[in-house]
Amino acid sequence: MARVVFWDVDTQYDFMMPDGKLYVPDAERIIPSLKRLTDFAHRRGVRIVASADDHVPGHRELSDRPDWKETFPPHCMRGTPGQKKIPETALQNPLVIEPDPLARGDLERRVRTHQGDILFHKHWFDVFTNPNVEPALEILAPDDVVLYGVALDVCDRYAIEGLLARRPPPPAASFGRFFLPGPTDVHPDVLAAMQRPMIGHRSSAMEELLRGMAPRLGALCRTARPVLVGTASATGFMEMAVRNGVRRRALSVVNGAFSERFANMVLAADKECVRLDVPLGCAVEPDMLRDALRRTPVDAVTMVHSETSTGVLQDVAALAAVAREFDDVLVLVDAVTSVAGSPVEPDAWGLDFTFTGSQKALALPPGLALGVASTRMLERANTLPGRGLYFDLVGFEKATAKCQPTNTPAVSLLYALDAQLDRIAAEGGVEARWRRHEAMRMRVEEWSAERGIAYVPREGRRSWTVSCLTLPAGKDSKAVVGGVKAQGWVIGSGYGALKDTTIRIGHMGDHTVAALDELLDLVGRTLA
Ligand SMILES: Cc1ncc(COP(=O)(O)O)c(C=O)c1O
Repeated sequence: MARVVFWDVDTQYDFMMPDGKLYVPDAERIIPSLKRLTDFAHRRGVRIVASADDHVPGHRELSDRPDWKETFPPHCMRGTPGQKKIPETALQNPLVIEPDPLARGDLERRVRTHQGDILFHKHWFDVFTNPNVEPALEILAPDDVVLYGVALDVCDRYAIEGLLARRPPPPAASFGRFFLPGPTDVHPDVLAAMQRPMIGHRSSAMEELLRGMAPRLGALCRTARPVLVGTASATGFMEMAVRNGVRRRALSVVNGAFSERFANMVLAADKECVRLDVPLGCAVEPDMLRDALRRTPVDAVTMVHSETSTGVLQDVAALAAVAREFDDVLVLVDAVTSVAGSPVEPDAWGLDFTFTGSQKALALPPGLALGVASTRMLERANTLPGRGLYFDLVGFEKATAKCQPTNTPAVSLLYALDAQLDRIAAEGGVEARWRRHEAMRMRVEEWSAERGIAYVPREGRRSWTVSCLTLPAGKDSKAVVGGVKAQGWVIGSGYGALKDTTIRIGHMGDHTVAALDELLDLVGRTLA
């Protein structure tokens, strides 16, 4: 439950009553309300923190010729009836804290062990000039402060502004505000699933776990082929794609940072790479691929389905169909931000290797890679030297067929995957998940159209999981991302060459249109 304190500012006789020394006109009219507040707090065990002027002659706030800003006529003089709080706001067993600095430990002990209210004496109208107020506030750490009093322009104002200035930053919400284009937010139920005890990686429990997940993984990845699960980030399976799928020379479709990585992976594996580059924000269209393949004989094509750096979604089905027009050309697809977020059909589209990572639309913590290899790919792999060990597709397929991991896997992440597969089924299966992602993409499209904010990709080529938006002139991504962060939300800035001029909203995984709406309101206010 939220921790609440009531904060009573100087409800002393001299301020409250018509014959008081520094009467605030009409103050006595709210006395019944002050009594109700005080009684309520005492009845409910809410602690009252109060302040009270406690003057002696010579205090710099006192003057016979006051300016009514910094100086005032003598009031609340120690030992006089005017210094006392009115009976209606009397404190219960108050711990009186004078404005002399106390050792932190001493103050902490007194505040923590004291059963009643707290009264801060002060010699200047600003309560925070009592050096013990700020540390006491840290110790009390209230979630909410209900403040009341009568000198609104002076004592109350300083108390309110002082409290606001010392307000802790909004806590990061446990779920639903983390819209990075990966890793994305992980639902608490999935995190909780990771706390199950360890099992041996060669145990029957492990075999059961993998066997139990296999049909659900097949449904998720839309394949009758086994779904390979490895302990690696997605780049690990990008390496698997290249080492096991490229014989000699690949054509790499490059339209952003991750497709560039795929091209570099081909070179890193000592294979030849022919690049088909298009400008950032564009997709390669089927005719372009056909032309390139006619010009250059290759044995594989690499491409990224949803290019997270620009938010471009390529028409992989059509591109794969073009590659199929050529003999013996494998289609290797990075579907890292599309699997589980928008349609990916390895079998129906004729993809030879399709891979993703756990931290994207699957909404798991990072650390697992998932892949699907066609039988053509497996046959090719069997003929290739240099497949390495950790990402050897042949070894992976054999182990997966026996429901065994290749090496010691990230057991806790497998628990998370198991739980998430159930959650996906409960949502209505992967198609329902796609529809939710499509609705989120459409919501961003609507929002940006209303505000005249441009998308980086053209209509029809926009990812369902990450929206990349060009900021209006004069705005830079650092300020927008920072402004959103100050309110406890996370989005991504642009990537590479688009770093400063674009933002990326990763609306993937378990996010909802409702949470996205809240985020878009906030981004809109930050841009205003
Ligand atoms: C499209 C795409 N491919 C590959 C990667 C690399 O994934 P990982 O960091 O899991 O290796 C990412 C990560 O953001 C990505 O978005």
